[in-house]
Amino acid sequence: MISKQNVQQSAAYLREMLPFKPEIGLVLGSGLGPLADELEDAVHIPYGSIPHFRTSTAPDHAGRLVCGALDGRRVLCMQGRLHGYEGYAPDEIAYPVYVMQRLGVRALVLTNASGGINTSFSVGDFMLIEDQINMTGKSPLTGLNDDALGARFPDMTFAYAPALRQQACEAAQSCGIVLRRGIYCGVNGPQFETPAEIRMFRALGADAVGMSTVFEVIAAAHCGLPVVGIAMITNMAAGVMMQPLSGAEVNEIALSRGTDFRRLITTLVVRL
Ligand code: HPA
Repeated sequence: MISKQNVQQSAAYLREMLPFKPEIGLVLGSGLGPLADELEDAVHIPYGSIPHFRTSTAPDHAGRLVCGALDGRRVLCMQGRLHGYEGYAPDEIAYPVYVMQRLGVRALVLTNASGGINTSFSVGDFMLIEDQINMTGKSPLTGLNDDALGARFPDMTFAYAPALRQQACEAAQSCGIVLRRGIYCGVNGPQFETPAEIRMFRALGADAVGMSTVFEVIAAAHCGLPVVGIAMITNMAAGVMMQPLSGAEVNEIALSRGTDFRRLITTLVVRL
């Protein structure tokens, strides 16, 4: 269970450390961390030093907050996130979302690396997440609810805020980047899916699959923080191409598409 008291303690610590009150929260997924290096006058705070935060073990996830200016916007960035496959509980993964909300962040930009399920997608595409299917069978809200943080039964109808989705479409258009749209299916991992699982997810209406994001979105809906999500299609999901998948491939594509990714996210953040 996430308590308001813990969130307040984390936020109080960070208020002392941060150079300003952040406006926008940004979570950087696998291979997408280098965007944080572009923040101006950045302050770095390792997760391990923040009260009640857990540290990330995923490869290429730096595991720190980076706070700085992105083209004039005051951004609080998670350079690396926690995943279920690392052994963290859903509420531990979602916890930083409440702290960002408490610090005054008014929009949360979530990014991730995903496998493409929709066969019209290509490796290297960007997909605006329109909605999600949580296939982990878990929720960060399991257990007692702290009513001071949010409602017991939060509404998920507009979890991916329509106004922010519109901003993302306009940002992509203005920088000449193609932005696909679709449904994100969140799984636990760490194993990639089987081809049969991917066929099932496709039949359920999913366009991309990944091992993150869904808990953070549930938490954001719970505490009333508007979310926009952008997935990078780093590989076609299992069985779409008759070839094996590897984590190295995911990171390679994420890095090679990094320039366009940074342009898209920066343009979006400036509009929010
Ligand atoms: N499946 C699950 N998670 C992923 C994938 C995938 O194919 N690619 C990147 N993250």
